[in-house]
Amino acid sequence: MKILYAASEANPFIASGGLADVAGSLPAALQKLDAQCRVILPLYSSIDEKWRRKMKFVTYFNVPLGWRQQYCGVFTLVHEGVTFYFLDNEFYFKRDRIYGYFDDGERFAFFSKAVLEMLVHIDYEPDVIHCNDWQTAMIPVFLNVYYRSVPKLHDIHSVFTIHNIQYQGQYDFAVAGDVCGLPEWAQGIVEYGGDCNMMKGAIEECERITTVSPTYAKEILEPYFGHHLEYLLRSKSWKLSGILNGIDIKSYNPKTDPNIVEHYNAADPKGKAVNKAALQEELGLPAEPDKPLLAMVTRLVSHKGLDLVRYIFDELAAEDLQIIILGNGDAEYEDFFREMQDRYPEKVRFVCGFVPALARRFYAGADLFLMPSQSEPCGLSQMLALRYGTIPIVRATGGLADSITDWDSPDGGNGFTFQSYNAHDLLGAVKRALGLYENKEVWPQAVKKALKCDFSWKNSAKQYMDLYLHI
Ligand code: GLC
Repeated sequence: MKILYAASEANPFIASGGLADVAGSLPAALQKLDAQCRVILPLYSSIDEKWRRKMKFVTYFNVPLGWRQQYCGVFTLVHEGVTFYFLDNEFYFKRDRIYGYFDDGERFAFFSKAVLEMLVHIDYEPDVIHCNDWQTAMIPVFLNVYYRSVPKLHDIHSVFTIHNIQYQGQYDFAVAGDVCGLPEWAQGIVEYGGDCNMMKGAIEECERITTVSPTYAKEILEPYFGHHLEYLLRSKSWKLSGILNGIDIKSYNPKTDPNIVEHYNAADPKGKAVNKAALQEELGLPAEPDKPLLAMVTRLVSHKGLDLVRYIFDELAAEDLQIIILGNGDAEYEDFFREMQDRYPEKVRFVCGFVPALARRFYAGADLFLMPSQSEPCGLSQMLALRYGTIPIVRATGGLADSITDWDSPDGGNGFTFQSYNAHDLLGAVKRALGLYENKEVWPQAVKKALKCDFSWKNSAKQYMDLYLHI
């Protein structure tokens, strides 16, 4: 089974969020199951020189995109047994950031077309192209409109994974023709509500749709979560399923992680306290070994539940605890957390940025991890928190509902959950967690239990294999 995994980011080369974790770890897990999985990414200028030096040039060709002919170079390297391809075009990818430009639609339409064009030019014939999020959503569309007549691509299967339905690649309808170059008869494939909607195109044209947790697969059929795609998805629900993401347990391992101060594991968790002390010092917080340290690591956007946090922040800060937040995003939340740090200098620290190494010290040093998302397709941080022995407090939605069960549920659990998107329900869950923290006998057992949770890719990779084999 040969799979080409197409994504707009993947660890360790380029990351802005959870997609990079998945694209950086699922392919290796599939290879363990005897699949051959290769990954294809844009060659952004921000990919570090140390990786570029290892890349080998393969070939180049022109990519037809509407009335344009655009150069595309192909580079490759093998990282931990997985072959990665990088598609080079400086006009599109020599930029400071990876997303956020007026022509993102054109940039990723180019990438999507170039992935298929590459297969015409190189000696490689995958059985399945696995596409991820709107940036690669035009692949199944271009495949069916342009490439089915190429014998080599005639029978390739396509899978499309939704990591977050909120970002759909939605542009003026003119983009369908002028930018994507779709002939008039095919423009209806991407037309949605009068716009050009790339994710809608993939939902129409791919053979299987997956999303990153079973609960989210159900949620996106409802208006509250579906961001206007719910009706379309309902009509395609025969090809929709949810597979919970795993995490890279080799990289995220408190026993070996070079980014943390002291190593530990379930058998010997003592080192966690050392990490807590070091983190308090690094952030300039009072050294308080016995005060619960509550962490958030998140993009600062509204669906992460930040409005709830904002609403009860003063009540939260009235508790005997310390609160640390790492993340960046919308200015209103950045400003809010800055203000809270000024208001509670002994208790609150906010680090504005996306800093993966520091995130690991947050997971290792904190006692509690807060993730009150309004919607959460899967969420990886709650699993990473557990991996480092930190107890998550989450709203039971999407992948959070599929990975965290409440400590007080009849069979016991691995965290604290609340159901409604309600600030005081969140506060109630935090207070229950603080209650457990106060119980000096039971708390260490909770930490040990967390350290023993298994969120490796093993099971999920098997489910993907099953899916590929039964298209
Ligand atoms: C997106 C989702 C997140 C998920 C990740 C990886 O970032 O918002 O919930 O864990 O993709 O699939």
